[in-house]
Amino acid sequence: MLDPNQLPIHSTRSPDHQPVRRHHSSHYYAHRVQESLATRLSKMICSVFLTLLLLLGIITFVLWLSLRPHRPRFHVQQFSIPSLSQASGFENAEITFNVTVRNANQHIGVYFDAMEATVYYRDQKVGSKTLLFPFYQQPKNTTIIADVLSGATILVDSQQWKEFMNDRQLGTVPFRLDVTSTIRFKVSTWLSKHHRMHATCDVSVGSDGLILASDKDKRCPVYFT
Ligand SMILES: *[C@@H]1O[C@H](CO)[C@@H](O)[C@H](O)[C@H]1NC(C)=O
Ligand SMILES: *[C@@H]1O[C@H](CO)[C@@H](O)[C@H](O)[C@H]1NC(C)=O
Repeated sequence: MLDPNQLPIHSTRSPDHQPVRRHHSSHYYAHRVQESLATRLSKMICSVFLTLLLLLGIITFVLWLSLRPHRPRFHVQQFSIPSLSQASGFENAEITFNVTVRNANQHIGVYFDAMEATVYYRDQKVGSKTLLFPFYQQPKNTTIIADVLSGATILVDSQQWKEFMNDRQLGTVPFRLDVTSTIRFKVSTWLSKHHRMHATCDVSVGSDGLILASDKDKRCPVYFT
């Protein structure tokens, strides 16, 4: 402790204030050492904490990479309106299609609720059907969805059929097949929330009413809403 009585003695004994400064300095240095120990300790704790955080981040990233769900992959195999090649085709119009769905995930299963298939011609709905087979798709599985739209599920009117025939004269009639479903991903026993999925397949048919060769086995873009 600094004795106030000593101060004048010190100052008189040494005009350059050496002892005072030394006394002050040793105290100051002790304080400094204590302080730097505390800083070092807090720095160490900080870096250990940051290293742990980084490790945790890397582990999470690797887990996410290996578990990240791939969206289902849709490919259109078949699509046809056979009666397009007949003069009286309008009365018995039928649309048949065959689409494959692949779950490309290694460890993630997919639950598909009831699917809906809708066919559009230049953005006008010309047919729609609920495909009543909710199913669970295992990892690395491919499932075929094949069905026929006919009778009440076909909404084509005679005006649209005339447009089909006009397009047919030119060689191709453009359609779009939309497959929508609500899906959930399953990882072990954990189930994700519901996602509304849309697969949109642009398919054109030739004058024989069959899918164009260039559209066969084409991948359909998939998006979620
Ligand atoms: C659907 O297409 C696949 C692949 O081309 C074929 O193996 C399967 O037999 C077709 N299924 C139906 C019902 O047309
Ligand atoms: C895909 O799953 C379905 C239903 O579980 C099954 O019938 C079919 O054989 C599986 N396909 C393959 C290629 O494993």
